[in-house]
Amino acid sequence: MRVVSSFETAFGGTPEGVWHAPGRVNLIGEHTDYNDGLVLPFAVPWGVSAAVARRSDDRVRVVSAQAGGGPVEEVAGWAAYPIGVALTMRKAGLPVGGADIAIDGDIPRGAGLSSSAALEVSVALALNDLYDLGQSPMELALLGQRAENEVVGMPCGIMDQAASALSEEGHVLLLDCRSLGSRTIPFDLPSQGLELVIIDTGVHHELADGQYARRRADCESAAAKLGVEALRDVTDLAAALSGLSGDERKRTQHVVTENHRVEAVVGLLRAGAVAEIGALLNASHLSLRDQFEVSCAELDVAVESAVRGGARGARMTGGGFGGSAIALVAADRADTMRRTVAEAYEAKGWQPPVFRTATPSAGARRLS
Ligand code: GLA
Repeated sequence: MRVVSSFETAFGGTPEGVWHAPGRVNLIGEHTDYNDGLVLPFAVPWGVSAAVARRSDDRVRVVSAQAGGGPVEEVAGWAAYPIGVALTMRKAGLPVGGADIAIDGDIPRGAGLSSSAALEVSVALALNDLYDLGQSPMELALLGQRAENEVVGMPCGIMDQAASALSEEGHVLLLDCRSLGSRTIPFDLPSQGLELVIIDTGVHHELADGQYARRRADCESAAAKLGVEALRDVTDLAAALSGLSGDERKRTQHVVTENHRVEAVVGLLRAGAVAEIGALLNASHLSLRDQFEVSCAELDVAVESAVRGGARGARMTGGGFGGSAIALVAADRADTMRRTVAEAYEAKGWQPPVFRTATPSAGARRLS
């Protein structure tokens, strides 16, 4: 394993083990996690591996095959994620000593498939095992989220870390972001003659992080005006909308309807009617584009051309402003769809999108 040789080169000696955590795509339930709502992500076949050994002192040193260079101890740049996890665990009162950590990953960069959550969860799981911390997968996900919120400074919700920590092969993960209760639901596309294609736009608009925080703030102020703890609690949407205006009104419209779409998708999956979820994927995209306003031209063209090319449904996935869209398509139409999307990008003069098949994969685990 390359991560083991990079550990040996950087630190000398051999790691005590190797842990792996995957990235994710979200089938539906976007920008609902920090509104105490429902999400339905699953792990992808790509992820981050961490080769780790304990140290007798308190230092935490990290190297990464992707970043290159020698061991880093500063809490800055990419190293803020793994070192931030160790520091957050200590802050939570967990007895975490020093560690040497080598990282290697194969999540396509900038594709919006949550490489940061994978990095956090792989390190959290490694330290949990090596220092015998007894934390559950959900507790490790929460520690990863806390590191990202407090050390990295990105006010993300719990979806990405939970998907990385808890997913099961061949399933989607239904997570209630208030109770943190979760269950897996079978998601077998090949048996239905279907394929879920990830369309990586290759773009990442720099406004993403600032806009994310603003959307979160819009949702919180809307909930405060409505006198509810979170937008999850809105039951009478018409009444709620009549008490709001502008951005708060639009954000509320999205979050409340998106939670209903997650429930509808879950119902259809349970009924074995997978192809029928397409219409809900389309509706989710329109709501993210027009009400939540987190899409961008590259995502809109990906979605529109995928549907024109024969997809049952398509939507942006993840935070937005670039990254990837997903398209559900009959396997025998997938090539035509990919061609239609590629042609639409070419007509715009954009760099070609990258297509990958999303296979629901296993969550974080020890490899050796
Ligand atoms: C990012 C965040 C998640 C979630 C999504 C939007 O991926 O990290 O917590 O809010 O955006 O659904």
